[in-house]
Amino acid sequence: MKIAVLAGDGIGPEITGQAERILLALRSDGLKLELEPGLLGGCAVDAAGEPFPEITRRLVKEADAVLLGAVGSPKYDGLPREKRPEQGLLAIRKELNLFANLRPAILYPELASVSSLKPEIVSNLDILIVRELTGDIYFGQPRGIERREGQRVGFNTMIYTEAEINRIAHVAFQAARKRKGRLCSVDKMNVLECTQLWRDVVTETGKEYPDVKLSHMLVDNAAMQLVRDPKQFDVIVTGNMFGDILSDEASMLTGSIGMLPSASLDDRNKGLYEPIHGSAPDIAGKDLANPLATILSIAMMLRYSFAQEEVAMRIEHAVRKVLAQGFRTSDIYEPGMKKVGTREMGDAVLANL
Ligand code: NAD
Ligand code: IPM
Ligand code: MN
Repeated sequence: MKIAVLAGDGIGPEITGQAERILLALRSDGLKLELEPGLLGGCAVDAAGEPFPEITRRLVKEADAVLLGAVGSPKYDGLPREKRPEQGLLAIRKELNLFANLRPAILYPELASVSSLKPEIVSNLDILIVRELTGDIYFGQPRGIERREGQRVGFNTMIYTEAEINRIAHVAFQAARKRKGRLCSVDKMNVLECTQLWRDVVTETGKEYPDVKLSHMLVDNAAMQLVRDPKQFDVIVTGNMFGDILSDEASMLTGSIGMLPSASLDDRNKGLYEPIHGSAPDIAGKDLANPLATILSIAMMLRYSFAQEEVAMRIEHAVRKVLAQGFRTSDIYEPGMKKVGTREMGDAVLANL
């Protein structure tokens, strides 16, 4: 199992550092894995002049899976768009054809009182957001900022092909089939043609899954329903941009954005695994970041890319035990608990592994 580790920027190295310690512990335990570091994002701009250098491209192509921290920093805000750290992440997703982004929002019972919502609204929460990751307004052409008739005009294109919608719908229906059998597709078909096609194609794909109960919801309502009654959802499937926004929203139901892992998969389970949060420049380098989303991302890696379900569960179990023992980074801290830094949280997970 060859794993490319792209720590990235900001808190990236701190959080992937803890995940790597877990992987190394599993290796000493007999798991055959190799870790290969690489540069992506702002650190790659600094070292090689571009966010996704050729050497990193080769590394991730050859690897069986990729572990990513986060990219980006206000430091690069003045750069031309193609040099921005985020372009590295978008390019890697496109290059590896990682169209299916799975973002599970699970509330650990110990964190019920840390959620921004009342414990009874979030208790036992277990939602899976399936976000399409290589299309939509993120990649649509034409795009740009131009001068037209004496003023600047900014424009992007929201676009999905039938094939793109169909393949992500299959991923979502299959996930729903293995869970509670409910799928909610989120769109904005009352205004946007692109998402009318989304709704039509998801409905057509649904005919192949009579055992899954399909519903549709407009995105503004979905954003509201997620905080009104999140447990009505089992699996949510949506496009790239709506999925980005709704998953950050859903993360707070679980206590913190520092708790949400993700898997970005192609059609053969080659995957990139990363927390859903960013590089958190406000807390970078201070040993404050919560590494659990990244640690839970390696559990997803072992499950999806390496079919090591037992090891994945061992990691998830260790995280559960650490929370039960009261270890809390600042983002999930409440009085009476043991406040720890990034590294100590890693220590605690290792001790429970
Ligand atoms: P962010 O997710 O980095 O941070 C938002 C807030 O959440 C901050 O207050 C931060 O301190 C907190 N936070 C995030 N992760 C945390 C963790 N593990 N533990 C504790 N607190 C945590 O979002 P932002 O501030 O909008 O973006 C910062 C930079 O990250 C930008 O350059 C953005 O483009 C980039 N970004 C990258 C990714 C990625 O690499 N996948 C994702 C989102 C944002
Ligand atoms: C994410 C991030 C990225 C996205 C950015 C950094 C390109 O917000 O992974 O959720 O919008 O997909
Ligand atoms: Mn995001």
